[in-house]
Amino acid sequence: MDVKRRLLRTAILAMIGLVIGGAIAYTQIISEQNSAAETASTSGSMAGVSLGGPFELIDHNGDSVTQANYDGQYKLIYFGFTYCPAICPTELQKITQVLNNLDEQMAVQIQPLFISVDPERDTPDVMREYVSLFHPRFIGLTGSPEQIEAVKQDYKIFATKVQDENMSDYTVDHSSFIYLMSPDNKPLSIYRIKDDAAFIEADIRKIIEAQS
Ligand code: NI
Repeated sequence: MDVKRRLLRTAILAMIGLVIGGAIAYTQIISEQNSAAETASTSGSMAGVSLGGPFELIDHNGDSVTQANYDGQYKLIYFGFTYCPAICPTELQKITQVLNNLDEQMAVQIQPLFISVDPERDTPDVMREYVSLFHPRFIGLTGSPEQIEAVKQDYKIFATKVQDENMSDYTVDHSSFIYLMSPDNKPLSIYRIKDDAAFIEADIRKIIEAQS
């Protein structure tokens, strides 16, 4: 076997390894998220579920922020990217609807955050313009690839670039969960794509009323 062919074979084997490794990691993350989500919906409490953690990111004004910037507020957190064709806009619109439908005095206690899984293209400027399409209090967060990787891990978010040779640009496959975090940064609920705005609104109202 000549050197070229051997190198090619090595490259192919390495790629297969990556794909399998990725698939296993993906399956594990999804099953973890599903069991966390089940805990949330069956017991109504996420006590004991480890999710989230301190982060350091760049907001859509280009300022450095940490989790502490949003202490004292409930958070609705969604991970996605501005080039997302379908799911992200729908979920961000859902959050906007929830905030518009809640009583004002309850809505103001909640900070909506959109965290990019595509920091390469989602610069602060791009994020600012994008979140302005949704609720006016939405804050877009991006950061260095390392900062984004860290926050994704803490929130158990799977996201990976996908390059289709038929497309001029890449897209990003990613998990889609809306996280409700408490004012002291504990996970309270996880909402999935099938949970509509009315469901989320009712759940948040129940949780905030029980805590106040
Ligand atoms: Ni998306």
